[in-house]
Amino acid sequence: GKDGYRHYMEKELHEHPLVIGQTLQRMIDPATRKVVLPDLPFDLATVPRAVITACGSAFYAGMVGRYWLEEIARLPVDIDVASEMRYRDPPLSAGSLGLLISQSGETADTLAALRSLREKAIHILSVLNVEHSTMARESDVMLGTVAGPEISVASTKAFTAQLTVLACLTIATARARGTLDPIGEEELVAALMDLPSRAAEVFNQGNAIRQMATIVAEARDVLYLGRGSMFPVAMEGALKLKEISYIHAEAYAAGEMKHGPISLIDRTVPIVASVPSTPLFDKTLSNLQEAKARGGRLLVFTDTQGADRVSAIAEQIVVLPRVHDFVAPILQTIPVQMLAYEVAVLKGTDVDQPRNLAKSVTVE
Ligand code: BG6
Repeated sequence: GKDGYRHYMEKELHEHPLVIGQTLQRMIDPATRKVVLPDLPFDLATVPRAVITACGSAFYAGMVGRYWLEEIARLPVDIDVASEMRYRDPPLSAGSLGLLISQSGETADTLAALRSLREKAIHILSVLNVEHSTMARESDVMLGTVAGPEISVASTKAFTAQLTVLACLTIATARARGTLDPIGEEELVAALMDLPSRAAEVFNQGNAIRQMATIVAEARDVLYLGRGSMFPVAMEGALKLKEISYIHAEAYAAGEMKHGPISLIDRTVPIVASVPSTPLFDKTLSNLQEAKARGGRLLVFTDTQGADRVSAIAEQIVVLPRVHDFVAPILQTIPVQMLAYEVAVLKGTDVDQPRNLAKSVTVE
């Protein structure tokens, strides 16, 4: 049942802290506080490259994974949506790592990409929520997201669980490749272990998010902005809004806005920006100032440290707990999903069963 929540999506949004915690319990040894992976039939220290592929929200989780694996583990990563990866047929040396991400483990495009990678002697590691799925059977190794069943068609908790697994995989890969020393690992693990409590605090911002939703619900088009690992968070926010509220939304890398979409900006196109106080804060802020100068209405997700500097230009602001830069994309995902949910409620759509969408798409 929905346990008193209005929709499964609302219930599942509230499960974020629990699901992140459960997934960490699976991946981190409580005694040593080290990430522990199952036995792998390949060596993370020597894989020449990773190729990430997935569809929908799972693809955006993969984009965050790319930032982490490249920056922290110095592993070259290629990424594409599954329906393109397969036909692009990128040149890959045997022994590369195929990283497939899927809640259901049944998505036809992702499964087809998995099979075509396998044919090229690529090792297959899948991040899956359904552990007895077709993709699980056809992978060399599976890392499970411990999100439990997700009923709402629009993914919520499975996405943060995917990010949690990818964060742990990044730590293990970085250790194997010698780019993260024990002190560095301790710091990143501590940031992850801190997340469930910080994630629970996001729900204190419910009123601010509902206020933002009243502005978004009036719009026909919405622009989402973020930089670095916050760019895929913006993409996830835009996808969620499209899926359940039927409002057109587009996500742009904040720095790319001036190369095109800036011409769209006026009072009728609200801009939702995800801007925690990471090293990319100043650059993103100056992009927002450009938007503001052109009459844009700024709706900003930031943290306690960024709040003062953002409040001067933002029409609405949601202040989230300050967390380690590494885990900021996980925390910042929760309020953008909540925003989409509140907008859909205001619009009166069928939140859990949006038109034309299915939970698991088994056709290519
Ligand atoms: C879709 C759903 O079509 O499939 C998305 O609408 C989902 O929400 C995508 O992210 C991928 O599904 P899965 O099961 O492979 O993660």
